[in-house]
Amino acid sequence: MSGINYTEKIPNNVNLSEDRTLQRALEHWQPNYLKWWDDMGPEGSQNYDVYLRTAVSVDPEGWAHFDYVKMPHYRWGIFLTPPEADRRIHFGENKGKPVWNDVPGEHRANLRRIIVTQGDTEPASVEQQRHLGLTAPSLYDLRNLFQVNVEEGRHLWAMVYLLHRYFGRDGREEAEALLERRSGDVDNPRILTAFNEKTPDWLSFFMFTYFTDRDGKFQLASLAESGFDPLARTTRFMLTEEAHHMFVGESGVARVVQRTCDVMKQLKTDDPDKVRAAGVIDLDTIQRYLNFHYSATLDLFGSDLSSNAALFYTAGLKGRFEESKRSDDHVLKDDSYTVLDVENGRLVEREVPMLNALNEVLRDDFIRDSEAGVNRWNRIIEKAGLPHRLRVPHKAFNRKIGTFSGIHVSPDGDVLTEAEWNANRHKWLPSDADREFVRSLMPTRVTEPGKFANWIAPPVVPIDRKPMNFEFVRFN
Ligand SMILES: [Fe+2]
Ligand SMILES: [Fe+2]
Repeated sequence: MSGINYTEKIPNNVNLSEDRTLQRALEHWQPNYLKWWDDMGPEGSQNYDVYLRTAVSVDPEGWAHFDYVKMPHYRWGIFLTPPEADRRIHFGENKGKPVWNDVPGEHRANLRRIIVTQGDTEPASVEQQRHLGLTAPSLYDLRNLFQVNVEEGRHLWAMVYLLHRYFGRDGREEAEALLERRSGDVDNPRILTAFNEKTPDWLSFFMFTYFTDRDGKFQLASLAESGFDPLARTTRFMLTEEAHHMFVGESGVARVVQRTCDVMKQLKTDDPDKVRAAGVIDLDTIQRYLNFHYSATLDLFGSDLSSNAALFYTAGLKGRFEESKRSDDHVLKDDSYTVLDVENGRLVEREVPMLNALNEVLRDDFIRDSEAGVNRWNRIIEKAGLPHRLRVPHKAFNRKIGTFSGIHVSPDGDVLTEAEWNANRHKWLPSDADREFVRSLMPTRVTEPGKFANWIAPPVVPIDRKPMNFEFVRFN
């Protein structure tokens, strides 16, 4: 079951050839997917040989195989982790019952919505990142970008398989619509706001893969608990790919911070203008990018209080992060959770029923996980002997969704008037001039093996044990 069949048109470990109707339907979708990749995938990259990893087995050890691949020939396929014998639903009102191998009629609409919303983010991020290859700081980074892109494409395949296999005609229609929406398109945008933002430069890309792919991790981890077993098995395998995306983000920001600290030490200055004049990104600008991507990502978790979140949990469709490691009753009917609310223009704590607060519970888990990486970035600054520190802003800062969307809050958590916000926002969020400056550091891509752009330190972690001057991408 865990071996992947690569002899078929669509690589898979789900015995696709035994279901001819499904196989035909997916083989019909496949050219439309490739057409989408051609139109919206990484710009101008169709003929490059890229040193990519491809899944050869879903076993935890050694599923990856590295080789040069032209991206349009990447073997996108359908990979699920093997089923667990006698798996039971382990939360909500169906707790203890066997998991579903088919979609229960009463949950059909909700499951479809969950799968479509997740599926939509996958091609969206490829679209957001499609121009970045033109300004990559090295071949190593270019290869990592492309690896992320092909895997997001595979994540789309993962969700489309579920739609085709379990949702009949409307599932097939949703699968087509996933190829038709476009990130940032006014008439037919992607579903979630953060996936319609631009990812215009490499600092944005690293922040996006650190924070927004981490939202992906938490959403996938909650779906990996699902009582709908095919969804749980699909998302479990996606999580192994997601880990690499977050690595790209964390190590990318770390290298930017490292390079900036090196220059600050060399020049013995913390004047942002002097730092910028030396061709690296000042720590204040890095902090503003962090603030933006963090707050935009917090919005992805949805409203603080949500009856849908309660329903998804109670029905057994979507669990909590690491559900099985928690020691409560996994039903949560009598539990409460402390959330922040706005009262007379002040932030106050309030106890609410836990079930309605599950978006907030997941957001708080995400916040803890995010902070850990920010602390690792701070160790680089500390080691350089500099007093500066990066930090995540208050969770009410710059929010567009939920309780805080109607107010202005500083990164420290002070509620502000409109005038105070407007007078200070350029200190907290990247301005057009900041973005212009960051872009100015990346006029073209660095193509010489082993060379890195001035604004970023070389990586510490190799890819497939290759030396840093390895030719990770061949342009032909
Ligand atoms: Fe993904
Ligand atoms: Fe991802």
